[in-house]
Amino acid sequence: SKICKVAVAGLGTVGVGTVRLLQEQADLLEARCGRKLVVTAVSARDRTRDRGCNLDGITWFDDAVEMARSADADIFVELIGGSDGPAKASCEAALASGKHVVTANKALVAHHGHEMALVAEEAGLGLAYEAAVAGGIPVIKSIREGLAGNKIRTLHGILNGTCNYILTTMRETGRSFDDVLAEAQELGYAEADPTFDVDGIDAAHKLAILASLAFGAKLDFEGVYVEGIRHITPLDIEYANELGYKFKLLGIAEDCGNGIFQRVHPVMVPTDAPIASVEGVFNAVVTEGDFVGTTVMEGRGAGGGPTASAVVSDIVDIACGRITPTFGMPAKKLVEKSTLPMDSH
Ligand code: NDP
Ligand code: HSE
Repeated sequence: SKICKVAVAGLGTVGVGTVRLLQEQADLLEARCGRKLVVTAVSARDRTRDRGCNLDGITWFDDAVEMARSADADIFVELIGGSDGPAKASCEAALASGKHVVTANKALVAHHGHEMALVAEEAGLGLAYEAAVAGGIPVIKSIREGLAGNKIRTLHGILNGTCNYILTTMRETGRSFDDVLAEAQELGYAEADPTFDVDGIDAAHKLAILASLAFGAKLDFEGVYVEGIRHITPLDIEYANELGYKFKLLGIAEDCGNGIFQRVHPVMVPTDAPIASVEGVFNAVVTEGDFVGTTVMEGRGAGGGPTASAVVSDIVDIACGRITPTFGMPAKKLVEKSTLPMDSH
């Protein structure tokens, strides 16, 4: 049809960013897709709140699962959050009702992505999640499509904007952890429960997704070694600075043949190392492919605009008929690669 209808569940930082982008860039998107992208339905909890975007003529649903089942839409966009609850139930309902699914929800993908991909692929539907890793950086498409000819042996990166913002700002201003975390929350960078950010869990969700894509392995979030940044004090940062180092929360994954390593923890990096210059809300992902060598991708890892940019890239793919296997190969072909324990490295 000449129109691709989109239903958006969740009207927070990313949901509002997505609706606004779809509306403000409507002509550009129509030219790129050869069809109009129209938001036909939205869902959030509080229908009385002004969302700061134009919802005229759009059907409102109080219940995201009901919207997934019955909205007049080709694509269901899940921007609620959480690995289970309404996010999971609504995505499952959307797939069962023949709708493609786009999500920014790394917790959902890290925990249930494999089984959801099996369902989507069986039904010939898209399950796309570009926004789930590294915000506005098109890292999923780059690894899945751009590096498809390579065996990827290792990847590493800064995968959480909130932590990088906190570490950068504490170093530059000497402000306290709590104070800077509150600011990151106000800016819309943090998860609804910011312990997911500062305890490294969000970065671990993202690392598990990247490892699956890069190594053709079944997702293994439980296998990721995780340590966050909560224990890093202003004094630690000051001493590191005096010695010529910066703290960065890194995610590192390696395919060792007999298993994979996946780990997230703070690392002291020399101030003149390239990754040390990735500051504030910026993320970076570095991959090593056998034919291409090193690639580096950098950009904003959180926030409404950058994340909406990634969400809309998935909507455009689906509207153009570019429906690719969720993890770069049919989900049933992904192999079990056990995660090696840290002390065997
Ligand atoms: P917010 O907390 O800002 O927004 C969540 C939205 O979900 C709110 O509008 C809320 O409604 C709505 N909601 C909650 N429960 C329900 C429900 N049962 N039914 C329908 N709607 C519901 O989150 P973000 O926009 O920050 O994040 C959304 C997703 O995007 C998460 O998965 C997050 O991990 C991911 N993400 C976020 C990024 C960011 O920079 N913020 C970057 C990349 C990914 P109400 O407004 O009425 O309370
Ligand atoms: N809370 C996440 C972050 C959002 O700070 O990186 C982007 O995934």
